[in-house]
Amino acid sequence: MTEEISKGESVVLIDSSYKKIIIDTTEKTDKFKGVGVFDPSILVGKKYGEKITIGSKEFWIFRPSVMDKLHSLKRMAQIILPKDSAHIILNCSIENGQTVLEAGIGSGSLTIALATAVAPDGKVISYDTRKDFISHAIKNLEKARLDQYVKTKQKDITKGIDEKDLDAVIIDIPNPWDAINHSWTALKPGGYLCCYSPLISQVEKAVFSIRENKFIEIKTVENIQREMIISEHGTRPSFDMLGHTGYLTFARKII
Ligand SMILES: C[S@@+](CC[C@H](N)C(=O)[O-])C[C@H]1O[C@@H](n2cnc3c(N)ncnc32)[C@H](O)[C@@H]1O
Repeated sequence: MTEEISKGESVVLIDSSYKKIIIDTTEKTDKFKGVGVFDPSILVGKKYGEKITIGSKEFWIFRPSVMDKLHSLKRMAQIILPKDSAHIILNCSIENGQTVLEAGIGSGSLTIALATAVAPDGKVISYDTRKDFISHAIKNLEKARLDQYVKTKQKDITKGIDEKDLDAVIIDIPNPWDAINHSWTALKPGGYLCCYSPLISQVEKAVFSIRENKFIEIKTVENIQREMIISEHGTRPSFDMLGHTGYLTFARKII
């Protein structure tokens, strides 16, 4: 069934190099980076999946998927990429209706993935020490239309966690080991902890701290993802492989 875009909807425009731009059809501005000058209301009535021309450029038009939202996000800090967010969601068994806490929010990349997983009945609570990061992440969440599932707090997680009975706590700060005991207290029994760390030295300190608390199923993994270039002349991995992002440490609370 072909569906038409109605007034008030948010859409993604994808160009021939697969660059993605999310546009709200009610936006007041008429200047869009990567698109040019046009009135967003002209998108109303177009069909999802069709190719449209704006100025001299062609775009496919879709309802934004979670990957579109992640790919069009504006970055301010190092973000957690989809390959790692996907792994976090499954390993921490995050699903609709849960309450999940993360620190810090950064640009809100992981937050978008978490909010999608807990919606429509759950909530993500996001701590960050910096107001500018919180404001930036909220803009990204509003653009992704997920802000109603996220509560932000300007708060240092190493000083304590206000919430109790959390289903999961995800830590992406430089010193996760300083937040492990607070995470244990805030988690419900069986709840999951995840620390995302770019450095092995951080992983070691985090794991030593996790081992001092009551957690089981402690494991650290690295996801290595290689895109394959398919050709009639031969198929091989892409030369532009993303070398390293971060290590994921998981643990589960016991009492
Ligand atoms: C690498 S960024 C997080 C990126 C985020 N996970 C994403 O995917 O977009 C780290 C963030 O942690 C925040 N931060 C650092 N120490 C913190 C602490 N003790 N408590 C809360 N937030 C903290 C920083 O301000 C920064 O925004």
